[in-house]
Parts: sequence; C-alpha cells; structure tokens
Amino acid sequence: MESLEEWVLPQIKHMTFTGIWRVTLMLSNYKDSVYLSTGEPDFDTPPNVIKAAEDAMKNGKTHYVDPSGLKELREEISKKLKRDNSIEASPDQVIVPVGAEEALATVFQAFVSVGDKVTVFTPAYSLYLDLIQMRGARLSAVNLIDEGDRFRVDLEKLKESITGSKLIILNNPSNPTGYVMNDEEIRAIVDLAVEHGTIIVSDEIYEKMNYSGKRLLSPASIAPENTITINGFSKAYAMTGWRIGYLAAPKEVMEALKIVHHTNVISASSISQYAALEALRGPQDSVKKMVSEYARRMELLYGGLKRLPNVRVAKPEGAIYAFPDFSFYGKDDDEFSVRLARATHVATVPGSTFGEAGRGHLRFTFAASPESIRTALSRIEEFLSSKSDAY
Ligand SMILES: Cc1ncc(COP(=O)(O)O)c(C=O)c1O
Repeated sequence: MESLEEWVLPQIKHMTFTGIWRVTLMLSNYKDSVYLSTGEPDFDTPPNVIKAAEDAMKNGKTHYVDPSGLKELREEISKKLKRDNSIEASPDQVIVPVGAEEALATVFQAFVSVGDKVTVFTPAYSLYLDLIQMRGARLSAVNLIDEGDRFRVDLEKLKESITGSKLIILNNPSNPTGYVMNDEEIRAIVDLAVEHGTIIVSDEIYEKMNYSGKRLLSPASIAPENTITINGFSKAYAMTGWRIGYLAAPKEVMEALKIVHHTNVISASSISQYAALEALRGPQDSVKKMVSEYARRMELLYGGLKRLPNVRVAKPEGAIYAFPDFSFYGKDDDEFSVRLARATHVATVPGSTFGEAGRGHLRFTFAASPESIRTALSRIEEFLSSKSDAY
C-alpha cells in the first residue's frame, strides 16, 4: 500500500469539502470581510435558554440521558408537532439527534444503500446531495422551474423521477432558493409518494421563517404513515452551536432509527437538551423578534440584488437566503464567487454547490446585520460596474 488514502472509500474520495465553507475560509484573514455565506443566525441564543443550560450543568445534569432524548423534551416536541404542524406523533415516535443534520444522516443510514434512488428537488441543501454520494446512492434530481422572479415545482418531471425512489426529500421553506411550496404542490407530491411507496423526508427547519403568507402544510399531517419529519432548534432559536434537532417517524421504523442514532452518538448532549426544553417551554417573543428582523433584512437584500445590472432574483418567500442568477457574468459560479470574493471581500456560496440546477447562481444569506448587507451590496455593485467591460 502506497498511502493510507488508498483505503478511503471511493464514494468519499470523489467528494469535495462543501462549497458552503470554501469562500468563507478563504476570506478569514481579511479584517473587512463580509460574510453572506453560511446559514448562521447572527442573533444570540435567548438568555432564558442559556440560563437553563447553566442550571443543568450546576445541578449535575451532565450524564448520558435516554438515547432517544430526554423524556420531557420528547413530550414537549410531541405537543409542538401537534400544535404547530397538526402532526400526531407520540413521544415514543420522537428522537432527539445532534442537529437536523444527524437526523438526516440517521435516516439515510437506516434506509439508503448502494444504488438506491433518492429524489430531491434541486437546487437543494448540499448536505442531501453529499449524503446520497456517501451512501453510493443515485440522485434523482427534479429541478425547480426557475421563472426568473419565482420558482415552481415541476410536477410532470416529478412523476417521471419518483418511480423506484426509496426517499423523496422535501425542504419547505427551501435552502437555498427561499421558495415556499403551496398546499397544492405538497398534496400532489404526497399523493405521488404514497402511490409509489416512497418515504417522504420533510425537512422543516426553516418553518418559522415564512414571509410568504402561504400556510405551511406538513406532509406528516396528511400522510403520517409515509413521512419522517425533521426539524431542530438551530435556526428558530439561534442555537446552531448547541447541536439539537428532532425527528418524528412512524412507529414501525422507530427501532431501526434508534439503533442507528445510538450506534453513532449514544445521545445528544444532555446540557443542550435541557436548553432546548426551555426553548420550547419558555416565552417565544425572541423568535418573533428574530423573524420580523429577518423579514426586514430580506427586503433590504432582495431590493439591492434586484437593482444590480443583469442579475435576476426571485423574492425569497422563506428561510434565510436569496438565490440570484449571475450567469450573465459567467456560467462558472465557482470561479465567479472566488473572483468576487478576491475583489470585494464578500463571501457568498456558489450556486452549483446545491446541484447542477444552481449553476450560475450565488447564494446570499440575510441572516447578517443590515450594515453587512448594505456594505456587500455596494461593493458588489461597484465590482460589476467597474469590471463589466471585462466579461
Ligand atoms: C435545510 C437544512 N436542513 C438541515 C440543516 C442542519 O441543521 P442543524 O444545525 O439542526 O444540524 C440546515 C443547516 O443549514 C439546513 O439548511
């Protein structure tokens, strides 16, 4: 054997470190860098949540807990799912993993094997694509129809693509497009999934960030026996570093999911789980404040992007991202995001990180201060106008 690298699994050897971090890390040495790249709320975790974690530590709640998650927390999640999402899931149908990310990885480990087909609406959160690659599975991509100023689900294409798929992943509101699916689209997708015996994985992590006025319909509220719902505390409560998510699934697959979760991590942090319990039980005014602030910042970013020459952008309806099309300035978004970063010190994420359908786009987050958004926009505007002859 020449090098240890030879032993790395081929499907992992072919992966590259996520594009979400590439430009961000590149700019870390500059003092004037502006980061509109990672989906990281710039708000602090609410003080009552921090206090609950402090109390847990002081009171010796620093040991392993029930691998599925603290009973009180699973009870609270079960109530929340019923109240907010009309999902009937008993505490025994809930697991508390290390973020929504571990929930997704758990589902993939339990259900997806080499060669299996997984349907995803693209552009999609890049980790879905990475998980498919890691399992040696096949991506069945259904591109959202990009109408320039809005996105739409291609139900005809979905009908062709879903046949033989083990899973279909929904992410509503969507990262990276900011698109919010309407009831009609969700119902049509659920009907097709049920007809084909495909498991629906519904990632609802951005549910609180909905500016569209559309009602968010949870697939598990209409097809509970076919759906695994995934959510978490990272975005709604500005708790990305606490690493707590949750999943709710049909009874018959709980044992399998618990085994995978336990094998990987035993349990999520006890201290973070007490904090999450307080996040659900305590006052919700900080969530409301954050969301109304995001709505204002979304308008600021969207308005600025819309004014950039030769850039098309759909108004974000949810989540914390805008996904403008910069293809006028070159189809190679990877190269363009690096060039933009070098010239302006503004970090964005190249659209092709989210699949082929994202090529030519850049993802911007508006979970950044209004000042950062204004600075980024004015630097980009200057860059595009001074360089436009060169394209
Ligand atoms: C769509 C989506 N799902 C899941 C996650 C992961 O969330 P967590 O921090 O709970 O692992 C993210 C993080 O950005 C996301 O955008």
